[in-house]
Amino acid sequence: MLIGCPKEIKPQEYRVGLTPHAAAEAIAHGHDVIVEMGAGEGSGFTDDAYRAIGAGVVDTADEVFARADMVVKVKEPQAVERAKLREGQVLFTYLHLAPDPDQTRDLIDSGATAIAYETVTDRDGRLPLLAPMSEVAGKLAPQVGAWTLQKANGGRGVLMGGVPGVGPAKVVVIGGGVVGTQAARVASGMGADVTVLDMSLPRLRQLDDMFRGEFKTSYSSKARTAELVAEADMVIGAVLIPGAAAPKLISRAELSEMKPGAALVDVAIDQGGCFETSKATTHQDPIYEVDGIMHYCVANMPGAVARTSTLALGNATLPYMLRLADLGWRAAMEADEGLLAGLNVHAGKLTNYAVGRALEIDVVSPSLAIKA
Ligand SMILES: NC(=O)c1ccc[n+]([C@@H]2O[C@H](COP(=O)([O-])OP(=O)(O)OC[C@H]3O[C@@H](n4cnc5c(N)ncnc54)[C@H](O)[C@@H]3O)[C@@H](O)[C@H]2O)c1
Repeated sequence: MLIGCPKEIKPQEYRVGLTPHAAAEAIAHGHDVIVEMGAGEGSGFTDDAYRAIGAGVVDTADEVFARADMVVKVKEPQAVERAKLREGQVLFTYLHLAPDPDQTRDLIDSGATAIAYETVTDRDGRLPLLAPMSEVAGKLAPQVGAWTLQKANGGRGVLMGGVPGVGPAKVVVIGGGVVGTQAARVASGMGADVTVLDMSLPRLRQLDDMFRGEFKTSYSSKARTAELVAEADMVIGAVLIPGAAAPKLISRAELSEMKPGAALVDVAIDQGGCFETSKATTHQDPIYEVDGIMHYCVANMPGAVARTSTLALGNATLPYMLRLADLGWRAAMEADEGLLAGLNVHAGKLTNYAVGRALEIDVVSPSLAIKA
């Protein structure tokens, strides 16, 4: 199979869909690889690094899309990229179709087979191609929160770990899933006094067993959350209710109960945010103040550490990409229901029920679609 990787063109996207390491694996499996010139630059991979492992470097995205049997990317294809897709071609990337009717319509019209990273599931029903980006965002959250807390940035001027004789920052993490766990680990590693809130008791038990007092856990009742937030120097929002917008867990009125200059880091901003006063910001202009409380609400946090994010995403996507290439997409999906769950569009039909419901478009079951 010929696997192609174009340069990402969405603004501020520095990741690349195929690392030289992943390309080398595909070549070792007997496949051919082409990448667009400069595709890896934003993540620190030169064209020569791709040439060195035997991949072809081509001048334009047009050439990648025209020649590749499977196009591997990071972000959803932009309109100009969608126009290059063709019937029978496989597209493997993040799609996030539910809020995006234009993209959905274009993918259906293209006749291509579009597999979305974010809906691929593993045996336990988890989302293995989303988890690496949650790990990155979780580990980054205390780092950006610590920066936000610095006086020059409008923060309280509190050091995460304190110093001998002066206590550490109090950090509250709301949501103890992938993001929350990584955030708690890093914050506690920086020496902060950390409490993780979750509404799932089994999850709190698991965290308690796994981390043995490295951070405290608490049930996420409204009253307990308000109590902890009022004492906090930093609050990290890391909740997720699958398929729904994030619940608003801190109201604007509650900001006045908080310490002036405290930092709110809303990682759940990509699902609408879990603080009433959150609005999405960018890496260029990441923080703003409301009622004396500093907010950090960057919706694509992994982009700040593009190289780590590219490598982490590549590690997760590689086994799936190899199976799609080795077996062909149809046999690979017949052999793995979790990969089949990634099929969003095939040969002019939408094949994801959640997207169909959101956009009121008819859906064909993925297992039927791949038999057609
Ligand atoms: N901003 C970014 O760049 C970025 C990157 C990755 C992930 N995210 C977002 O981070 C959020 C968390 O993702 P995740 O992978 O950790 O999800 P996850 O499913 O692993 O964890 C979510 C946790 O939230 C808990 N929860 C739900 N409602 C709660 C409530 N009211 N109070 C306390 N806990 C509650 C759940 O029990 C679960 O343990 C998601 O919104 C995700 O989209 C953002």
